[in-house]
This record gives sequence, structure tokens and C-alpha cells, in this order.
Amino acid sequence: MKGAIFFSGKYGSTEQYANWIAEATGLPVFDIKDTNADPSEFEYLLIGSSIIYFKLTIRKWIRANLSKLEGRPMILFSVSGAGPSEKLNRWVANSLPSGVASHFEHVALRGRLDHSKVSWWVRQMLRIGALFNSDPEASKDERYGFDYMDKESIEPIIKMIQKYHTTQATA
Ligand SMILES: Cc1cc2nc3c(=O)[nH]c(=O)nc-3n(C[C@H](O)[C@H](O)[C@H](O)COP(=O)(O)O)c2cc1C
Repeated sequence: MKGAIFFSGKYGSTEQYANWIAEATGLPVFDIKDTNADPSEFEYLLIGSSIIYFKLTIRKWIRANLSKLEGRPMILFSVSGAGPSEKLNRWVANSLPSGVASHFEHVALRGRLDHSKVSWWVRQMLRIGALFNSDPEASKDERYGFDYMDKESIEPIIKMIQKYHTTQATA
């Protein structure tokens, strides 16, 4: 079964996870901003996306490629500061056209925010956001940054991919 990873990220953590998954599985990996690779050429897809301001950064690409994504197994890995939760599931669902989220198996991974890597303007926005964030942990993360990158957290994704191949082999 032929699969591929398509990802969208801005500061490197989604790309890092995409590369770790590629290393572990041998799947080709494409950054949506510099590829014309066609998702319909693959039988299953891994779609990786960071979350910026409560939205998947890959949402426009998904909308534009909806007809090419239909009918194939898909895993979505989101990369965010927040850990897995109903709130995060809502951000994912709200980023996508109605009903589309249920077509993905979703795995929530946690990323990295390094204030020295973002623009002055973004830093100010994060500081203001931290002031209004009612969750003390999330507020601290927003204010000072964080590094939750964890190579082992891709394990459930690797298992899902192995399952696709086993199911195919025994079909
Ligand atoms: C401007 C900005 C907004 C963000 N908004 C959110 C958010 O709404 N929720 C969240 O959980 N994390 C948020 N984050 C954290 C990112 O999801 C996290 O840093 C992620 O690892 C970024 O992925 P990337 O390195 O691939 O761009 C935000 C980060 C930045 C810089």
C-alpha cells in the first residue's frame, strides 16, 4: 500500500515530526508549500499540521484538495502547544469543512515554541494572549515558550501505518 506524508508548519516542529515518521516508515514526505506532489497518487495519507491561533495551518490545502483526499485512509497529526483534549478536537473540527474531521484518524502531538524564533510582533501577540488565557499552564507556555517535542509520541502513528499494511497484506 502506497502512502505519503504531507505537512504544513512554520517553525520546524511539524517538519521534525514528519521527518521522524518518514525515517521510521520510509514514506516520502512533502512540505505543501514547496511541492506539487499529488495526494491522489497515494493510497493512504498522513497529513501533518501545526495549530496557530486555534486553527490547523493546513486547512486551506485540505479544502483545495478535498476531492483528491476522498476515499482513502487518512491520519491527521496536529502539532500544538495544547495536549490532547476535547478543546483541541474542536479546533481541528472547526478548521475543516463540515463533517471532514470524521474522515481522519487524529493524533495530537505537542510541539515547541521558541520566542527567539518568532517575530517581534508575534511575540507581543503571544504576551497579550498569555494575559487573557484563563488556563495558568497554557498562559505560562504562551508567555515563555515551551518544548514538548517527543520522538516517542509518534509511536501510535507508526502502529496505524503498520496496520494499514497488515490489513492490505491479509486482504
Ligand atoms: C502565533 C502562534 C499562535 C499559536 N497558537 C496556538 C494555539 O492556538 N493553540 C495551541 O495549542 N498552540 C498554539 N501555538 C503553538 C504552536 O502550535 C506550536 O508552537 C507548534 O509546535 C508550531 O508548529 P511549527 O513549529 O511546525 O510551526 C501557537 C504558536 C504561535 C507562534
